[in-house]
Amino acid sequence: MTMKSPADFDKMAFAGQCVAEVHAAVRAAAVVGVTTRELDAIASEVVRRHGCRPSFLGYHGYPATICTSPNSGIVHGIPDDYRLVEGDILSVDAGAIYQGWHGDAAFTMAIGEVPDTVTRLLEVTEQALWNGIAQAKAGRRLGDIGSAVEQTARPHGYGVVREYVGHGIGRSMHEAPDVHNFGDPGKGLKLKSGMALAIEPMFNMGGEETVTLEDGWTVVTADGSLSAHFEHTVLLTDKGSLVSTLPEPVLVGA
Ligand code: MF3
Ligand code: CO
Repeated sequence: MTMKSPADFDKMAFAGQCVAEVHAAVRAAAVVGVTTRELDAIASEVVRRHGCRPSFLGYHGYPATICTSPNSGIVHGIPDDYRLVEGDILSVDAGAIYQGWHGDAAFTMAIGEVPDTVTRLLEVTEQALWNGIAQAKAGRRLGDIGSAVEQTARPHGYGVVREYVGHGIGRSMHEAPDVHNFGDPGKGLKLKSGMALAIEPMFNMGGEETVTLEDGWTVVTADGSLSAHFEHTVLLTDKGSLVSTLPEPVLVGA
């Protein structure tokens, strides 16, 4: 993993702001009757308006600006003609590049009314992300992040997806190290200021097992259970860790 300077982080912060704007636009547009392809078009427009480039488009041949993963979709769903229906959940993952520097973030939302059990899956997965972020600071170790995420799922019995992981991020979307959603406190790589990490818990209502569909991208739960995914890009500095992909970036752990 390469260390970033404050000037590098300024560019990553701008890319992060672009991703946050994509999230806001897609969230506002994701209503009953809209297709995921329409959401992709909105995302594309927002990325370009910010003078950024979409990082997913063309990545190993990926054909769209965002990933849209409804219901049992975990990650990497390709926007298509699927029309959202009342009671769906939808995971949206977006990445942008500003002057060569990346931001990457994801969220899961409900379309209309969903049962309380589903709302809880979304809330707990997002809480796991924040518990992971709280550990993402200089002096802690990767295992502290993974453990914090994993332990958040435990009382709820959710399947914690192990096959897909968070990652270092910078001039590439995916850099070392892998950021697992499980681990042992005090173990693993020591975190330092100048590092940037994408932390991204994926929790399933059922088991942790995944299946990739014939399109080679779409990853779904093996048991058909619902899945939630939340991700932020976090920039580790001497003054705390900046969550760059929030609409109003916040410095945590200062
Ligand atoms: N945002 C995803 C991640 O966090 C990557 C999307 S893969 C792509 O790793 F192919 F769609 F780009
Ligand atoms: Co990511």
